Formats: sequence, structure tokens, C-alpha cells
Amino acid sequence: MRLTNKHLFLVKAFMHWAALVPIVYLVLAVMTDEAGGDPVQYIIHYTGIGALNTLLIMLCISPIAKRFKQGVLVQTRRLMGLYVFAYATLHLAAFISLDLLFEWSLFLTETVKRPYILVGMLAYLLLFALAITSLNSIKRKMGKRWQKLHNSVYAVALLVPLHFIWSVKSEIIEPSIYIALTALLLWARKDQLKRMFSR
Ligand code: HEM
Repeated sequence: MRLTNKHLFLVKAFMHWAALVPIVYLVLAVMTDEAGGDPVQYIIHYTGIGALNTLLIMLCISPIAKRFKQGVLVQTRRLMGLYVFAYATLHLAAFISLDLLFEWSLFLTETVKRPYILVGMLAYLLLFALAITSLNSIKRKMGKRWQKLHNSVYAVALLVPLHFIWSVKSEIIEPSIYIALTALLLWARKDQLKRMFSR
């Protein structure tokens, strides 16, 4: 079956549902004391993993649309990209408010002590630039520069697993799985990436 613009509404409604349900779950888990012994760490990890999962799902959209000739799916990428940004914003907000308790001077010392935070910051700044330029009116105004800027989603896809594996103390299986998945998704675009770098 070929999806059309008529189905797009349902696909997008499903995506909103799938992205929002985990946030409701997190709020309920915290409110009912189900967020483990260290709820602050739980929230930071949960939202970080949420951002990374959404990013990987977003990167799956184009290959799936191409493979199954469902071009209409490409129109859902902006929606998913904005959810990546939303999860990353919750992750950063949880870190600044619940972990650092808004002690801004600590942000600097923590960044020096834990350099993976700098990597996360870089990824977040790129996501921020992608989110604010995602409006159609800005896209039109930016012309060819828009695509160049939006190609930095691949840099985000490299930075976030690095941020993840650098942040863990011992457990490396989970971040390694994420690195393998990211590598697979970038490999699926190897021709496009080769063209980008040869320009
Ligand atoms: C402003 C930048 C960021 C800061 C300050 C930040 C901070 C942190 C902190 C404190 C941790 C927990 C490390 C630990 O104690 O175990 C963490 C883990 C993580 N972050 Fe970030 N982060 C940032 C950006 C991002 C972005 C943009 C993403 C994804 C799009 C992301 C995804 C993750 C993931 C997947 C983890 C590992 C979660 C886990 O241990 O289960 N972070 N980050």
C-alpha cells in the first residue's frame, strides 16, 4: 500500500502519541516514587536516552521511505526532529535544575571535570540551530545554505553516542549498541555523505 497525504495525518498523530507517552510515563514514575533510588539521575538518563532513540528513529525515516517507496514519510522528519530537540531540552533542563540546582558556576567546573558535557553541549547547540531553522519560511529564505546546515544532523548523530559512551563509568554494552546502530544508519547513507564531503 502506498501512503498518501491523506494518511499523513494518522502517521503524524501516531508519532505525537509515541513521543508523548514516554514523557507522561516519566512524570507518573517520578510522582509515584517509581523512579529508582536516585530520581535525578533517572530523569537525566531517561530523557538522554529518549533524545537519542528519537534521533535514531528520525534517521530511519529516509531509508525506509526510499526502500518501501513511501515518499510521503519524508514529511514527518521535521516533527521527529523537533521531538529530538524537545527531549534534549528536557535532558539539559533536568541537569541544570535538578543536578546543578541552577548553580551556574558549577556548570563550568562540571564541564572541565566531565568533558563529555562539552560534547553534549555542541550536539545541543546544533540541534538548537536545526530546530529554529525548521520553519518553512526560514527554509525558503536560507536557500541552499539550509541543506548545508541541516546536514549537521549527521554530526549530531556522531556526537551523541560519543557523549553517551564517554559519560558511562563501566557499562559499555548499551552505548556500544547505540554506536553500532548509528554507524549502520550512517553507512546506509554512505553515497550521500561521500557526495557531501567531496563538494
Ligand atoms: C547541553 C548539553 C548536555 C548536557 C549538559 C548533558 C548532560 C548529561 C549528563 C550529566 C549525563 C549523565 C551522565 C552520568 O552521570 O551518567 C548525560 C547522559 C546522556 N546524555 Fe546528555 N547532555 C547534554 C546533551 C545531550 C544531547 C543533545 C543528547 C541527545 C540528543 C544527550 C544524550 C545523552 C545520553 C543518551 C546519555 C546517557 C544516558 C544514560 O546514561 O543512560 N545529551 N548527559
